[in-house]
Amino acid sequence: MSSFPDILDKRMQTLRPPEDFLKKIHEQGRLSAHERLEKLLDKDSFIPLHRYITHRATGFGMETKKAYGDGVLAGLGTVNGRKIAVYAQDFSFMGGSVGEMHASKIARTIELALKLGVPLIGLNDSGGARIQEGVDSLKGYGEIFYRNVLASGVVPQIVAIMGPAAGGAVYSPALADFIIMTRKSYMFITGPKVVKASIGEEVTFEELGGAEVHATKSGVAHFLAENDDHAIEIIKTLLSYLPSNNTEDPPCIDTGDDPFREDPQLDSIVPEDPLKPYDVKEVIDKIFDKGSFLEVHALFATNAVVGFARLGGCPVCVVANQPAVAAGSLDIDSADKISRFVMFCDAFNFPIVTLVDVPGFLPGTFQEHGGVIRHGAKIIYAYSEATVPKITVIMRKAYGGAYIAMSSRHLGADYVLAWPTAEIAVMGPKEAIEIIYKKELEKAQNPEELAKEFAEKYRREITTPFFAASRGYVDDVILPRETRGYIFKALAFLRDKREKHARPPRKHGIPPV
Ligand code: HXC
Repeated sequence: MSSFPDILDKRMQTLRPPEDFLKKIHEQGRLSAHERLEKLLDKDSFIPLHRYITHRATGFGMETKKAYGDGVLAGLGTVNGRKIAVYAQDFSFMGGSVGEMHASKIARTIELALKLGVPLIGLNDSGGARIQEGVDSLKGYGEIFYRNVLASGVVPQIVAIMGPAAGGAVYSPALADFIIMTRKSYMFITGPKVVKASIGEEVTFEELGGAEVHATKSGVAHFLAENDDHAIEIIKTLLSYLPSNNTEDPPCIDTGDDPFREDPQLDSIVPEDPLKPYDVKEVIDKIFDKGSFLEVHALFATNAVVGFARLGGCPVCVVANQPAVAAGSLDIDSADKISRFVMFCDAFNFPIVTLVDVPGFLPGTFQEHGGVIRHGAKIIYAYSEATVPKITVIMRKAYGGAYIAMSSRHLGADYVLAWPTAEIAVMGPKEAIEIIYKKELEKAQNPEELAKEFAEKYRREITTPFFAASRGYVDDVILPRETRGYIFKALAFLRDKREKHARPPRKHGIPPV
């Protein structure tokens, strides 16, 4: 029998939300903050912070509305043996709303993540700023955001949205590196009621800010999870690729996959007809360690593919054009997707392997008026700024500005390989001939035949990868089946790359955001 009954009684109150709340959310197929933490963390690894904190607000009935912890569990723990800092918002107390004390717990958790050099994981479920606390609540949010920014590029920040994220609740996740949304969650700045009142638009929670909308259209969500359990699985998988902070390398494991394994199917994966599509994800599967590809933003801007994979057991970032969608052309959304991912990979010491098959930037007023110039420039900025090892494989088309942007030698790629099917030029042979031989073709008796002849010559002499190789822009022309071994060998050297001397000192650059 303990001689401290008071402490045990108080502690019990922090261990479980009210039964009626549990029953309600279980019926909805959701978990409580306590259960989510339990599933995420290794058994008995949780070290709680501020277990007994309560708000100090008065008025609007707040004197009687108090709970230990103020609606958020926060602390340290381990996930598969890796140390993390974590918080989980508890919707059972005032809808997980963020008051001053609630916010101070999250802010302290981020500070600890920074001090300890460990990833920050947030499990969010919140109605936003606690209305009764007024500006104290806003101050709290500001202090969280500030720390999110300080932690950016120092420790990985992952947030799972597992319920509402309304109003101010959206911006801390938006400042994190990865957002996972469960199907039952939603994120918006202003909810359907305010939308109706202010602009007369009728829209449901799901249509406005549901997980599917953010995973496919806005790109706010990087991963779409079926439910809470799935979201926690995604966090664990993602963590397995990430270093704990920016001074570490991503963790290698033994995948048992021979780095020099050749896949002959790669030799025929690019169709002979340059207009025919193929799925670049098949290429990724064949080049990298079997089953190791973790796609990020899988449902957003699908004309590009980004994600983590392993080669010889060590994590790399993969960026690829996807010829199966819009012929792999770049546009506003894919530019945002690629540039942000490249920045993350550079900050956390991942080598970047870029697989190129890109006909150019998508034309038209929608893209131009949407700022494709500004957005496209982000890719150039991100690759140019990245000092991690950069390996580029040109599989087929690499035309114009898109060729330059997709990790070309000219933006500092360390090793550029081309397949024999590569076509590298200002534009494709057909289009090039129509411009440079316009007059000859107009006068010709057999323009089609002549155009074909000229195009063939252009292909042979200009777009051939051996032309780029003769200029030193391509290091080697290889058989597709050899790609895995070539990248592996190059990476073994490039991992020790130093590039600091080439960068003049500055406070920071100004990316075209
Ligand atoms: C105080 C809140 C709250 C909030 C919810 N609650 N949100 N209390 N401040 N922001 C309380 C409710 O009063 C209720 O208390 C309990 O949490 C559960 O909420 P319900 O509404 O019953 O739950 P549900 O039906 O699931 O609806 C969830 C919800 C809704 C959609 C999130 O609660 C809601 O619309 N909340 C307000 C969202 C909002 O406008 N937030 C402020 C955004 S402005 P009881 O006591 O009845 O159990 C903002 C500005 C910050 O955040 C900007 C910083 C940059």
